[in-house]
Formats: sequence, structure tokens, C-alpha cells
Amino acid sequence: MWKPTERIKFHPSHGRVPSRDEAQAARLFSPITLGPLSLVHRTWVPAMVPWRSNEDGEVTENVIAWYARFAQGKPGAIVIEATGIRDVPSGPLLRIGDDRYIPGLKRLTQAVHDASDGHTKLLIQIIDFLRIRRRPEPEVFFRRHLELTPKLLQRAGLQGKAEPEARQALLDLGPQGWQTVLAPRDWQALQYGAREHVNDVHLPHIRDLPKELPSLFSHAALRAREANFDGVELHYAHAYTMASFLSATNQRSDGYGGSREARVRLPLEVFAAVRQAVGQDYAVGCRFLAEECIESGSTLEDAASYALAFAKAGMDFLSTSRGGKFDDAKQPGIGQAAYPYTGRSGYECMPQYLSDAQGPFGRNRAATRHIRLALREAGLSTPVVCTGGVHNFEMAESMLAGGDCDVVGTARQSLADPDWALKTWLGRGQEVHLCEFTNYCEGLDQKHKQVTCQLWDRQALDEPGLRMSDDGRRRLVAPAWTKAPR
Ligand SMILES: Cc1cc2nc3c(=O)[nH]c(=O)nc-3n(C[C@H](O)[C@H](O)[C@H](O)COP(=O)(O)O)c2cc1C
Ligand code: SF4
Repeated sequence: MWKPTERIKFHPSHGRVPSRDEAQAARLFSPITLGPLSLVHRTWVPAMVPWRSNEDGEVTENVIAWYARFAQGKPGAIVIEATGIRDVPSGPLLRIGDDRYIPGLKRLTQAVHDASDGHTKLLIQIIDFLRIRRRPEPEVFFRRHLELTPKLLQRAGLQGKAEPEARQALLDLGPQGWQTVLAPRDWQALQYGAREHVNDVHLPHIRDLPKELPSLFSHAALRAREANFDGVELHYAHAYTMASFLSATNQRSDGYGGSREARVRLPLEVFAAVRQAVGQDYAVGCRFLAEECIESGSTLEDAASYALAFAKAGMDFLSTSRGGKFDDAKQPGIGQAAYPYTGRSGYECMPQYLSDAQGPFGRNRAATRHIRLALREAGLSTPVVCTGGVHNFEMAESMLAGGDCDVVGTARQSLADPDWALKTWLGRGQEVHLCEFTNYCEGLDQKHKQVTCQLWDRQALDEPGLRMSDDGRRRLVAPAWTKAPR
């Protein structure tokens, strides 16, 4: 992962730990409504892909165990990982693209409601993503993938050559020659793996995204409702299709790109279709980027204008993230796919303990406050969820008190200690295991390995009935909190 050159070390701290009485009177542990949905507390576990599903995208026992463990810590809400709205093979990512997924998803919602005694509300993040290929061997790229266009043959002086001969000649050019003759898009595909973009309107399935996505999202949302989720979060963030429509890099000329108004059009149409399908009495919101954090990307002002548009359209909550783009991702090894959290924008999304002077903690606060203020000044009361480097009560409470947000998201801190909020609420905040922000978990995610936390994955491995990772070395869920009496 990209790291700031300063490499200043930051250490998480418990901050000021509240007594039980103080905690239970705190904003963080007060209720809030997101449209039709009531949360008992303002603690929120944002979406995190743990790679627990199978090749069919189904809810497995490991998926259930993972979320039930978070639910034992009784956060106000958990958002299930990015779940694909299409019924197409996508590795072990959860899917909701067909009715056959509903029974498995129902078991998951039941397990979370049971494990939290009905305390925790469960939402599901629904996602569309475009195709991305692994970085190819040059030989394979030149022999099979590269399209031999007349312009390319002309640039390489290979007009009139037979195809096998032309391909061999191109391969023989070597890296310097490739960079000179290949179109920028092909050069990119050779170096990083081919990646579809919303600007590729010459491809019919990309051109037709505005026609297809509203119905794909709305069917997925209906299934979520059928499976007893308490709400859906539309994934409009990071490196995926909807965020690419919102991005300033979206230059489509079909009314869905270019200006801010055109870029937000499809996200609004998707929301309208979802709302129509699930009704007014069901919580629907989105996760989007406060800042893209890439060159020529959308700005905070873009994000504030999107937030106003989403809120006016009737979204029940808005959850912010930042960065996490393919645009500045590091070059993957041959045979690997690019990962959108390896560049500077990736650092902004999941900052780690080696940082710049700003540090990794609360890095999304100021931008989210700006967005929330824009909403409030426009008379809109839509609740805002802010996530990024939050790991203790003091910081979470000050974010609520200072008007940064209405709900506080903690992803890695919840992974490090799923009971952190419960411990705090009970006045036992000193017992919280603090996330060290090393990004060991994110490294596993990058390799598409089952995500675990270094603080607990080698602990108590002799526990009976333990679920172990495929490599046989790590436990798959955090150990139970054994509360010593006080
Ligand atoms: C392993 C892992 C998987 C993630 N998967 C998702 C995801 O599916 N959807 C999403 O919006 N964000 C995802 N994120 C980003 C987190 O939701 C969160 O925004 C990020 O980790 C920063 O918050 P934190 O500092 O509280 O961890 C993931 C993060 C991690 C560590
Ligand atoms: S592995 Fe654990 S401690 Fe390290 S960043 Fe991830 S959640 Fe935090």
C-alpha cells in the first residue's frame, strides 16, 4: 500500500474512558431514526468483505458466524458487505442477484437478530462493479487479448502483415516499443490488466448501464426486504460502477456524464427505482465518497451537491467514505488484479498507523462535517454516518457533539474488538482491544484471503468447535469476551 513519505508513527489510545453512567447518557448510546428505521445506539459497523462466501455467492455457515459475532457486541447497526446485484460468477463474494439467495440471506438476518437480542439493525450494501482482468503475461496479451486495429498496425508499421506475424512483431518490440505504439488504453491493459470504465460507451453493455441498473438494483433491494434486512445501502463509493458515474472522470455524453447534474442522474434514477420497489416504509440510503482523493476526481463540493440531491430525493441516511479508487492503484504483479486500496486514494480510505502529520485517525471528519452542514443549511435533516480511523469513545462522542455526523462508523476497530461498543457502554472501556491500524486485515482482503485480525486470529486455537481459515492457521471469528465479574 502507498504510504505518506513522512512515515510518522501513530498509536491508538483508549482516550478518556467513560463510567457506565456517563456512557449510558452519552450521545453515542442515544437512539436515532433513519427514516422508518430506529437504531438503539449510534454505533455502526460499515460494510467489510470478509471472503466467507463460496463460488456461488451464497451465505455459508462462515458468513453467519462472522456477522453473528459482530452482533454479539450489539452495535446500533451492521451493514453486510458489498453484495453483488447480478447473478454472475464473481468469486466468493456474496450475491443477491436471484431469488434463490433469499433463504440463505434470511438465515443470516435471523442469526444477527438472535445474537444481538434484537438490538442490532441489519442493512445490506448492494453493489454493481465492472469487469477487471488480471495483469496478463505480455505473451498472452499480444497473442490473444490485443485487438489489432488499423491505427495500431499503422503506428507499428505493420500494415498488410498477416495476423500471426503482426502479433509476433508487436511482442518483439519490448517494453519501450510497446509504450510507443500501443494506444493508452491498451498500454494500461498490458501494465495493469484490462478494466472496463463507464466511459466505454462503445461497448453495448456499458452504454446500456443506465437502462439496466435501476431494475437490477431494485430487484436486489426487494430481495433484501424479503430476506428481512432492515434496510439497504446502495454502494455509490470507491472503485465501483455507481461511484464511477458520480466521478468527475465520467465523461459520457449521453446525459449521464460530464456535468455534476448529469453524473448524479443515474444514482438518482437507481434510488427512485429502489424506492418504488421497496416502498416508503423501508430504509434506503447510500454510501458515497466525501472526496475521491485522485487527480481530476470529484471534489468535496461535488459530494455536498450529491448529498443534497440524495437527501431531497428522500434517502433515509447518507454514509461517507473516501478514496479507494483504481485510478491511482499500484501496478499488480503478473497474474494479479489491481486492487483499489494500494494508491494514495486507497490510503485515504483505510489509513494506517504510518502516516503524515494529519495522522490516520478521523481523517474523514472534516469533509463529512462540511457535507452535513450543507444539508442542515438547506433544511434537510437526513442522518449522516461518518467512518474512518475512529477507535475510541472520546473521538466518537466528539464527532457527534461537534456536528461531524449523526452516527459513527467503525470498521477495523469493530473487527479488532467486536465488543468495543458494548464494553464501553458497560463502563468497561479499558477492556477494549484497540485496533493497531497495521492493515494486516486489508492485506488479506487484497489477496482475497479470509479476513481476520492479527489481535485475535492465533488465540485460543484449542477451543472446541473452532472455525479455522482455509490455510488451517487462523481462527475465523474473534474469541468470545469472557467478562470477569466486577
Ligand atoms: C477487510 C475490509 C473490507 C472492506 N470492504 C468494504 C466493502 O465491502 N464496502 C465498503 O463500502 N467498504 C469496505 N471497506 C472499507 C470500510 O468500510 C471502511 O470505510 C474503512 O475500513 C475505513 O474505516 P475504519 O478506519 O473504521 O476501518 C472494507 C474495509 C476492510 C478493512
Ligand atoms: S488486523 Fe486487526 S489490528 Fe490490524 S488493522 Fe486490521 S483490525 Fe486493526
